[in-house]
Amino acid sequence: MSEINSITLKKPDDWHVHLRDGDMLKRVLPYTSKDFARAIIMPNLVPPVCTTAEAMAYKQRILSALPNGHNFTPLMVVYLTEDTQPDDLEQGYKSGAIQAVKLYPAGATTNSESGVKDFGKVHHVFERMAQIGMPLLVHGEVVDADIDIFDREAVFIDKVLEPIVQKFPALKVVMEHITTKDAADYIRSKDANLAATITPHHLMINRNAMLVGGIKPHYYCLPIVKRESHRLALVVAAVSGDKRFFLGTDSAPHSDEAKLQACGCAGVFNAPNAIICCATLFEQQNALNKLEGFLSINGPTYYGLPVNEAEITLVKTDKALNLAAEYKQLDGALTVFDPLTPLFWRIKE
Ligand code: NCD
Ligand code: ZN
Repeated sequence: MSEINSITLKKPDDWHVHLRDGDMLKRVLPYTSKDFARAIIMPNLVPPVCTTAEAMAYKQRILSALPNGHNFTPLMVVYLTEDTQPDDLEQGYKSGAIQAVKLYPAGATTNSESGVKDFGKVHHVFERMAQIGMPLLVHGEVVDADIDIFDREAVFIDKVLEPIVQKFPALKVVMEHITTKDAADYIRSKDANLAATITPHHLMINRNAMLVGGIKPHYYCLPIVKRESHRLALVVAAVSGDKRFFLGTDSAPHSDEAKLQACGCAGVFNAPNAIICCATLFEQQNALNKLEGFLSINGPTYYGLPVNEAEITLVKTDKALNLAAEYKQLDGALTVFDPLTPLFWRIKE
């Protein structure tokens, strides 16, 4: 069999990204808007994006920061609080201003303090969303102090997600950035109303990258990276072709200053190399024929949106990408995800 050196795909979308605001938005947006046609924009700003009006204002700030020539559509998300108004969501969703609602258990991750504490208080919101077909995106971790941080996703499935799925079978749910075999198995055990995003970093590294030989804050993110057996289960899900799994980079930039601290921020900045990381992984798995589904088709299909018409071509090079040289301009400010494996793929300009 001859080796594949080039592959053309429908242009990918990112179904979970943090673009931030202000100066950081200007710095990181071009990496996402260059490689992706659309992205689901996380609403965990300070303060969070809680209404349709706030989402529309944030969308304008994103569009104003877009580099010339980039053809990119931000898909806006509202942050669910115990005060969220179903009418506001319905109007926003039906007008196309917003695409989904994000559930952060209060305290689960960066800027999630306004999230939901008592899930009973948002049942009327889920009911309306189920009626209108609006997707609920969940950060799937419990926050109970007595639950080990490595178990928080698995416990969330049993204690929070399954009861929601049982009570609202018509609600369309995306379990975001899954990190465990438990989550991949759970998604497969359900029917059409449950899907999951997977990040490049959870596909490419396990917790040893973060903890062996010294602590490596750039690999610290939430949900925290797990042991190798979980990574392998995620790889199986991603390359399987199963339409319920698709890319959400969870690119979550924090300045190096904020990451390299005694108490550093959670988040991996992978927007610049997310696609070539996936190409590298899928090639290693002999699954390049499943790459387009994962990057470009399964996501819009689940969200009920058209697949992009534009295409990108990925080419294989002889020389591995030199991350330090390639992203030198970010030096000392922002660190790009290093998958600890050489990257031979490039997006053709
Ligand atoms: C995200 C961030 O920094 O906003 N951090 C992360 O580790 N993924 C928040 C999140 O998505 O959990
Ligand atoms: Zn995130």
